[in-house]
Amino acid sequence: APGAQEFIPPQADTIDELRAAAAGCQGCQLYRNASQTVFGRGDESARVVFVGEQPGDLEDQKGLPFVGPAGRLLRKAADDAGIDPGHIYLTNAVKHFRFELRGKRRIHQTPDRVHITACRPWLVAEFARLHPQIVVVLGATAAKALLGPTFRVTKQRGELLPWPASAQHPEDFTRVPVDNAGKVADAPEARLLATIHPSAVLRADNQDVAYDGLVADLKVAARALA
Ligand code: URA
Ligand code: SF4
Repeated sequence: APGAQEFIPPQADTIDELRAAAAGCQGCQLYRNASQTVFGRGDESARVVFVGEQPGDLEDQKGLPFVGPAGRLLRKAADDAGIDPGHIYLTNAVKHFRFELRGKRRIHQTPDRVHITACRPWLVAEFARLHPQIVVVLGATAAKALLGPTFRVTKQRGELLPWPASAQHPEDFTRVPVDNAGKVADAPEARLLATIHPSAVLRADNQDVAYDGLVADLKVAARALA
């Protein structure tokens, strides 16, 4: 599979134009079984951008990110942390739902590195058109897309990190990302903060503790807003 790059129109100036083009993406195998591409949505001038893993079952059906239980929990946690959930932009590292069929049930499967790499040009193209002050990275898949394969959310969650545009190594996920329009996903003023995925809170043995941990991390992000 070719990756998403060749599906990104060089003349696309806006998120809406990217979203329209992404509807036809065949950059990896995932478009075959999923219902539709689920692109980012929300306030394009938001100071806080959240990056999740991939759409879930409900998102796949509706065509919108974070419309299910994880999204509800995320908006509540943002609100509790002092981030206005009405002024955020939400997207995912991978834009198609990856699942395994068990009978009639569609069971979530974590995207592989090949899907993250293939889909990354969309994320890069989005960031070239957004102006966040804080990028909140939700869970390991988003962290792999933006911080490279060796980043450990469990070790570095809740830390304010620089935007990772300066890493040098060619196969590093964090090399300076440029999209087809020559736009660099460079947000030098943005900082990045990794935390656990809201779905991990929903799966946790002690949901209250996990939720409080998520809110505590998001408070660090909220305090960093100018
Ligand atoms: N989980 C994600 O990572 N993204 C969504 O859009 C929904 C659930
Ligand atoms: Fe394209 Fe990403 Fe969907 Fe793969 S997951 S087909 S790269 S939009």
